[in-house]
Amino acid sequence: MSNIKTIGVIGAGQMGRGIAQVAAQAGLDTALFDVNSEGLSAGVEFIQKQMLRGVEKKKWSDSVATEVMARIQPCQALEELKDCDLLIEAATENKQIKFQIFKDLDKIAKESAILATNTSSISITEIAAATGRPEQVVGMHFMNPVPVMKLVEGIRGLETSEAVFDTVEAVAIKMGKTFIKVQDVAGFAINRILMPMINEAVYTLYEGVATVEDIDTGMKLGCNQPMGPLELADFIGLDTCLAIMEVLHEGLGDTKYRPCPLLKKYVLAKRFGRKSGRGFYEY
Ligand code: CAA
Repeated sequence: MSNIKTIGVIGAGQMGRGIAQVAAQAGLDTALFDVNSEGLSAGVEFIQKQMLRGVEKKKWSDSVATEVMARIQPCQALEELKDCDLLIEAATENKQIKFQIFKDLDKIAKESAILATNTSSISITEIAAATGRPEQVVGMHFMNPVPVMKLVEGIRGLETSEAVFDTVEAVAIKMGKTFIKVQDVAGFAINRILMPMINEAVYTLYEGVATVEDIDTGMKLGCNQPMGPLELADFIGLDTCLAIMEVLHEGLGDTKYRPCPLLKKYVLAKRFGRKSGRGFYEY
């Protein structure tokens, strides 16, 4: 861990900006990269807002917020990440995009750099195979919202070395997270459990068993979940939920993972949840 001083985060979206925030809060110099300049500015502004909100709530001082922001370097060229000790990719959940990013990272990153991915469902082993250093590729799956959720799911690819796995565990702990160790199987552990629950909630709605509100109220009050499963699906993004169900269905080959037709229909209608303004709820 002592050798990890600088972190590069690829993608300034919902997950990337959260990862950059917790990295900078942990005292690490953090380069935040996004190809899209508007997305990059929005990401940095979001972190700034979170840091200022923390000052208002007396979670940390004004000078801490200033120091954290000073540790975040926005970047628009991947080459700017060449000296980072650990690179964490949090780009769009699309195989071809991720493979290309890892090919590019493998070219620009220094030899000792660890390449981590925040993928929620793509095989770490397959991503690692896109590089010439598969033993230095690892899964670091953060949960949304990253600054709030205490977990990092660590995923070992076929070739991931023990030393690399131990290093990212130490980095996650430094970021204030608890690290669980998981093998590289479709959906890993968290989504293997969470997504079928969400999918079943959609089936419960689809079959007319209960309304959206009653399903969510039932799971919130009956099972102490902070959000009902349909509200959570809107929060994660219905397109993401569907993509993960498809990975489980294809990867594990069991019909119990069949995505609900209603989930598919909502995605076809571009009802992606919060990010598109409409999912099971309107925003
Ligand atoms: N970024 C940073 N902080 C945030 C935030 C965000 N996007 N959203 C909320 N927060 C913070 C708030 O500032 C607040 O902080 P304080 O307590 O210090 O004041 C705290 O979270 C609670 O927020 P709120 O009071 O506004 O709202 P809440 O009590 O309803 O909590 C929630 C919001 C934390 C999101 C809660 O509803 C929750 O835990 N929901 C479940 C989230 C979950 O299950 N995430 C995992 C999704 S699965 C995943 O990420 C992996 C995948 O691959 C799909």
